[in-house]
Amino acid sequence: MKKLLLIGIGPGHPDYLTMQAIKALRTVDVFFFLEKEGRGKEELIQIRNDILAEYADSGRYRSVVAKSPPRSAAQGYEAGVRDWYDDKAAIIAGLINDELADGQTGAFLIWGDPALYDGTLTIVQDILARGLAAFDYEVIPGITSVQTLAARHRIMLNRVGGEFTVTTPRALERTPADQIDNAVVMLDSNAAFARYADQDLDIYWGAYLGTRDETLVSGDLKTLAPDLAEKARQARAEKGWLFDIYLLRRRKD
Ligand SMILES: C[S@@+](CC[C@H](N)C(=O)[O-])C[C@H]1O[C@@H](n2cnc3c(N)ncnc32)[C@H](O)[C@@H]1O
Repeated sequence: MKKLLLIGIGPGHPDYLTMQAIKALRTVDVFFFLEKEGRGKEELIQIRNDILAEYADSGRYRSVVAKSPPRSAAQGYEAGVRDWYDDKAAIIAGLINDELADGQTGAFLIWGDPALYDGTLTIVQDILARGLAAFDYEVIPGITSVQTLAARHRIMLNRVGGEFTVTTPRALERTPADQIDNAVVMLDSNAAFARYADQDLDIYWGAYLGTRDETLVSGDLKTLAPDLAEKARQARAEKGWLFDIYLLRRRKD
């Protein structure tokens, strides 16, 4: 039987790998990479290569790189993502069928944790359900950017006995602004926090966590929003990509 590992590698620094992830890396025969087009991607590839150089067994594995399909512009966001996943499923099934021998272990390195805003697990399950390839698979959890944000700002995610939500700017738009209480926002990179600058919210913002460009900003959103939006815009323009995450927390008197 072939085996596929989805290994969570944490959000950007080799120190964020768990012991389980490191042990798993050492069992891998073939690492698969789906590379996206676009400026700045070399840096993300370099981070993953650094992780392999530090932890994987160099005499054992080989890497296979395939081009990630472009995101479909189909009818609406959800339909677009579904088409995109279908295209990726065809590519990943092809990789498993053609590049992995029976008894071998293949792996995808998943940024952060595989269960959080990452499509690979869904795609793998879809490949199996549709019989596009046959293999066993395992998920190795990783430290998420959510945990890293909290640790770097030295904050609790929940308030005593309270809750927090993890969301995206698109989903947050469905919540009335005055009902946002304690929300971690991911997948932004366009300074959507600026929409809420009239609210009594504090922001705890982190960009490029775990990398040499890590930036942390926190305080009153009303005061910070214009400069922070400009900082995010500049960072994205200079590097060609921006990974940022933030907690919006309603201020209690
Ligand atoms: C496709 S999602 C992947 C999330 C990942 N699976 C996780 O567990 O954190 C990418 C988003 O995660 C957040 N993110 C991931 N790594 C980050 C980092 N090093 N610094 C800041 N945000 C990060 C950003 O919100 C980014 O837009």
